[in-house]
Amino acid sequence: MSDITQLILDDHETFRREFAALDDAREPEQLREIWEPLAVLLEVHAAAEEAVFYPKLLRRGDEAQDETIDAIGDHNDIRDGVREAAQHPIGSPQWWDGVRHTRTANSSHMAEEEDDALPDFRRNAPLSMRVDLGHEFLKFKTDHSDARDLDTSDKDPQAYVSAVEEEIAAGDDGNSSLGIGSLKGR
Ligand SMILES: [Fe+2]
Ligand SMILES: [Fe+2]
Repeated sequence: MSDITQLILDDHETFRREFAALDDAREPEQLREIWEPLAVLLEVHAAAEEAVFYPKLLRRGDEAQDETIDAIGDHNDIRDGVREAAQHPIGSPQWWDGVRHTRTANSSHMAEEEDDALPDFRRNAPLSMRVDLGHEFLKFKTDHSDARDLDTSDKDPQAYVSAVEEEIAAGDDGNSSLGIGSLKGR
């Protein structure tokens, strides 16, 4: 069953496990083996949520505007942490600072997503829709698995919400990926 809310939780569990694995690693090579795929998954996960989940939450949720603005801001903080770490040799104190900033931002974001956005969507979206979106979420992750072709720059939270609201006002039900693509880089 690929309910998107479950797939998001699955990725969150991977994040928790892999950040914990960093605590046990010592050698730079070990750290690299854990960090590089973790950093990529953090980027791809946030981008997949922005492409597939939040546009639909904005159409269905009770508190979707506030939840989405918070989430995009949090995603920016996570992206900032990944970028900070990337500027320093793996295992250096400055790299650990970047990793810690990423971890702290991600932990508080996951809690908000799990306590607010995901419950809001479960309450308001039928399971069949959540499963359809789960397939889209997985496809997005497969299509962008190395994050290289993704725009990982920060997004303006209000501009992101306004762009989706324009689509909604234009009668776009969010079932076409065309509109979603136009959000890249905004
Ligand atoms: Fe998430
Ligand atoms: Fe998120």
